[in-house]
Amino acid sequence: MSNNKDIKSGKTGWRSPSNIALVKYWGKKAGQIPANPSLSMTLSKAYTEMTMDFRIPEHDKPGVAFAFEGRREVRFETKITAFFELMTKQYPRISDFHFQISSHNTFPHSTGIASSASSMSALGLCLADFLNMTGDETLTLKDASGLSRLASGSACRSVYGGYVAWGKMEQMKGSAEEYAIPVPFRVHPLFSDIKDAILVVSSREKNVSSRAGHAMMDGHPYSAARYEMARQNMVLLIKALETGDFALFSTVTESEALNLHALMMSSGHAYILFEPNTINLIKETRRFRNETGIPVCFTLDAGPNVHLLYPSENDNVIKDWIKNVLVGFCENQHWIDDGIGKGPERVFTSIEH
Ligand code: PMV
Repeated sequence: MSNNKDIKSGKTGWRSPSNIALVKYWGKKAGQIPANPSLSMTLSKAYTEMTMDFRIPEHDKPGVAFAFEGRREVRFETKITAFFELMTKQYPRISDFHFQISSHNTFPHSTGIASSASSMSALGLCLADFLNMTGDETLTLKDASGLSRLASGSACRSVYGGYVAWGKMEQMKGSAEEYAIPVPFRVHPLFSDIKDAILVVSSREKNVSSRAGHAMMDGHPYSAARYEMARQNMVLLIKALETGDFALFSTVTESEALNLHALMMSSGHAYILFEPNTINLIKETRRFRNETGIPVCFTLDAGPNVHLLYPSENDNVIKDWIKNVLVGFCENQHWIDDGIGKGPERVFTSIEH
């Protein structure tokens, strides 16, 4: 029998959130090992819901079929197939099964809202369940994080809620290159309920993938300085999160966001993912903060959309400002009212002998 629990078929499903990096992962080594440590905040409403049916096929061939929002999606299917083939070396029974995977997101995909983080962490969690259900493994969240990392680097940070770190750092007990961990220190109450208003400047698919972006860091003239700066920013961000220093948090977070885009603009194939309204929103955020003294700052992912971060105690006044001013810079006035989240949830599981 191909699996030692004699399972013929089963199903699992996860709802897994996106995350937004505060210190960015940009540049990697072989085996999806990050060039520098990163630290993110897991989101709540921006998530992928994925179900994975698996069965030993009686007539057709083993393999992967993938549907996104009810429709076959060949591009992701190819990506998942390649990932499963890679994992087959370690877990040979994967190749005996046929997998029917379907997913949907609560946000537009490929816009710089990290759909790869939510979808690939959902996949890592489903795969960990499959392995636990069909064999002797007892894979933990840490293992699911490691599996997710191999599917898409930043996805490894989405398997936990709150603030999450990935990459080895002396100062951070338990940190590792191969998987992420929830930050191993007490976060100040100011940061325990941070909101993230995602201001959608453009929902168009970005024209340079993260994979290509990471590759451009090899041989980038500023890469050594960047990796050193990221380490220093990790130390500063940890200090800000521990002490409740929002000014320091803003300085580090905004510098990281602008640095990420500056690296793109200064790479061999110099490219720009900003849109004019990205700059307008950045300037307006700084003006508003300077004039009102209200703690709010921005970050960006690899795309034109702006993430506005602020403590929830200012929710009403920030929302008024978004509705009265900021939506004017958004595509079709579109923004997503999100915030820090508790991490993934299993939504389905069953097995059949
Ligand atoms: O996980 P990837 O390969 O899609 O890389 C994502 C990199 C950034 O989103 C730009 C930054 C990060 O740390 O999430």
